[in-house]
Amino acid sequence: MSIEINAGKCIGCMSCKTVCPSSLFAADPQTGKPFPEHPEWCIGCMHCAAICPQGAVTFSGGEACLSEAGEKAVTMGGGGYAEELKRFILRRRSYRHFSNIAVPRSIIENAIAATAWSPSAKNEHPVGWIIVDDREKIAKILSMIHEYVDSSGEYREITYYYKKRDNNVVCGDSGCLVFTYSAKQATSPLIDAAIAMTHFEMILQSQGVGTCWAGYLQGMAAIIPELTEMLGVPAGAKIRTAMFLGWPGDERYPNIPARAKKPDITWL
Ligand SMILES: Cc1cc2nc3c(=O)[nH]c(=O)nc-3n(C[C@H](O)[C@H](O)[C@H](O)COP(=O)(O)O)c2cc1C
Ligand code: SF4
Ligand code: SF4
Repeated sequence: MSIEINAGKCIGCMSCKTVCPSSLFAADPQTGKPFPEHPEWCIGCMHCAAICPQGAVTFSGGEACLSEAGEKAVTMGGGGYAEELKRFILRRRSYRHFSNIAVPRSIIENAIAATAWSPSAKNEHPVGWIIVDDREKIAKILSMIHEYVDSSGEYREITYYYKKRDNNVVCGDSGCLVFTYSAKQATSPLIDAAIAMTHFEMILQSQGVGTCWAGYLQGMAAIIPELTEMLGVPAGAKIRTAMFLGWPGDERYPNIPARAKKPDITWL
């Protein structure tokens, strides 16, 4: 897998560099345009191509975004609401750069309320929510995570990206962190939490809120005892999923990224 930039088409806006979650681009000192300095860090998300206004990014020589015909081929079929829903799923993106304007708590609470209609094993609805929308508390959480990385030597990419590449893979520049928890004795605690969070994300993105799943944050909430304590996770419950969110800042995706991996399907 390799990302390529067509220098002839590129206008040097640097949007690709800004949104790359793996911080692998650097600016060429001569042209001022980006080049993939660490292509081996690429996770193939195609954010660079999805944001590029010039169609200058290709992937292993092929298209990194869906062409009009490609988009039609994927979405065509249902028409009406079915078509719209599929297009919405294709257009959902992970956002990591946000404005300073807070998302009103009412919008978040309404989205959570709608997850009461998400499916859950035995209709138990075991999921609870913890939300941190205080920037001082978020900074405290981040410093706990950085201390953990420094003392354990695990997940070193977190502090490397943060300190050397100005990229916060834990929560972007979000001012709102959302955690789900569920009791260990629930029938399907993790699956139920993942479904609820997925629906939560879709409802928010349909209202223009930018969201991103936060695997690092979720993992750290479980392994750093002070963080678990700070979050007030109820006894007998465990953090299952995490997400960060906000109103998107200068991060808009006009293109739909291509997906390199084709689905594995077995019909029996
Ligand atoms: C379970 C899970 C954990 C993730 N954890 C992180 C994370 O810690 N930090 C981050 O920046 N993105 C995280 N992501 C976002 C993925 O990188 C992103 O979904 C993927 O690159 C595809 O991009 P897209 O969501 O815009 O289509 C996570 C996604 C999932 C589903
Ligand atoms: S987003 Fe496109 S035009 Fe802008 S710097 Fe990157 S490759 Fe060049
Ligand atoms: S595909 Fe994703 S990880 Fe790879 S260079 Fe583009 S934005 Fe970065």
